[in-house]
Amino acid sequence: MRLVGSMVTALSLVLGCSGEHGGHGSVPSEPLATPSDVGLVPAVIDTPLWTGPIAPDAVANESKEAGVVQVTLEAAPSDVEIVAGQTVRLWTYNGLLPGPRIEARVGDLIRVHFKNSLPEATTIHWHGLRVPAEMDGVPVAQTPIEPGGEFTYEFKAEDAGTFWYHPHVRSDEQVERGLYGSIVVRDDAEPETNSETTIVLDDVLLGEDWQLATFSERHAMVGRQGNVILVNGHATPEATLAPGGLHRMRFVNAANARYYRLSLGEDFWVLGFDGAKLERPVRVSETLLVPGARVDVVFAGQRDGERLAWRTLSYERGHETGSTADAKLFDVTFAGETRETASLPDTFAELPVLAEPTATKLLALEESAAAAGPHAGHGGGGDAAPVFSINGKVFPDFQPLRAVLGTTEEWKVSNTTEMDHPFHLHGFRFEVTDVDGAAPPFRALQDTVNIGAMQTVTLRVPLEGHPGTWMFHCHILEHAERGMMGQVDVEP
Ligand code: C2O
Ligand code: CU
Repeated sequence: MRLVGSMVTALSLVLGCSGEHGGHGSVPSEPLATPSDVGLVPAVIDTPLWTGPIAPDAVANESKEAGVVQVTLEAAPSDVEIVAGQTVRLWTYNGLLPGPRIEARVGDLIRVHFKNSLPEATTIHWHGLRVPAEMDGVPVAQTPIEPGGEFTYEFKAEDAGTFWYHPHVRSDEQVERGLYGSIVVRDDAEPETNSETTIVLDDVLLGEDWQLATFSERHAMVGRQGNVILVNGHATPEATLAPGGLHRMRFVNAANARYYRLSLGEDFWVLGFDGAKLERPVRVSETLLVPGARVDVVFAGQRDGERLAWRTLSYERGHETGSTADAKLFDVTFAGETRETASLPDTFAELPVLAEPTATKLLALEESAAAAGPHAGHGGGGDAAPVFSINGKVFPDFQPLRAVLGTTEEWKVSNTTEMDHPFHLHGFRFEVTDVDGAAPPFRALQDTVNIGAMQTVTLRVPLEGHPGTWMFHCHILEHAERGMMGQVDVEP
């Protein structure tokens, strides 16, 4: 491989910069438990470690029927080459990291034949899609599929947007091992762009042997943050785009705990978050992408031979996670025939005006130290594991909330802790109406939103969709699996 000559230097840049952990060119011998491990991914990596195509192909649609998207997914252990010559034993869908992208149009029926070839039980959750409760892949609605078992998921694509899928059983371990993939649903109002790329961001915590570090309670507090950032399954890939015009990227944050503060070095436009477009493109210089969330952006193509780089800027989400350097995610190189595109439309469709709420729910996100609860031992490790709860209850001890389908509610989510938590609701979309007393600058429909340390965020929640039991939880998966999760029973 032509990269071999530069590989030692490049790898040492990625992994060996922090003098106290391991030598030149090696990953730290002792995977770190503290946020300082983030520092192992340096600000600038000048040599790309991977120059393959940045995105995997969309999964082939096995259905010949119009309006039906049928795919087969098999979860199984597989070896994935994340950088040239380095293979990591992961768990993947169809041997791919990320799993195959599912593409559909609004109104399509999506049918997924799933086979579990993992050594443990699993499910698939369709994050952000408003699917019937029994298709949502959560243990309250579906007995996890045992090893060797199969299940067919079937639901309609109701909203255009960027979504993703992942297990909802032991998700802190199963997602970290590589079980995730994206879903893109389009409607008739997609803007004209030169290119469109789906970028699934993740990170993995690797030991010196280049294999996943042991799962440990030491990672519970801030969540397991990796020492290698992955962009569609590879460290620092490179995207080559046609010069000129506009280019669209749909980012998905599939990491257990890492926040990406995305920056391009020049302004870009946000078209939408999660599963809905904004009312108009919003010009920004950066955007924060929290675990579980998606952002759909457009940026201007440069001249032939020029390049841009997407970076993640340092962000303090508590416990000194902000002490780390900025890191490059990937380069974008413009080469070839220049192609111009129409400019972005000034407006997209107006978002529906949400009804006045007829009920209010208060949710307090909490953390308590060193309580040795029944879930504290999950994943092995010491007894000082933090416990996470909502309204004083550690899931599954949470008493389900009640609500009625078709009504609109106001949810006040208060973060009582010293760190941020990304809050995710299944089955419905919400609009943020207030953040600590201030109205947000523009309207958006979301299913995942950051709740800053000690912050209260008010959500307007139209309960439009399907009845049933729906989960809500922190999407730092170590927090969710340790109790920061609840459920609401929505009656028809
Ligand atoms: Cu992305 Cu309850 O999950
Ligand atoms: Cu959390």
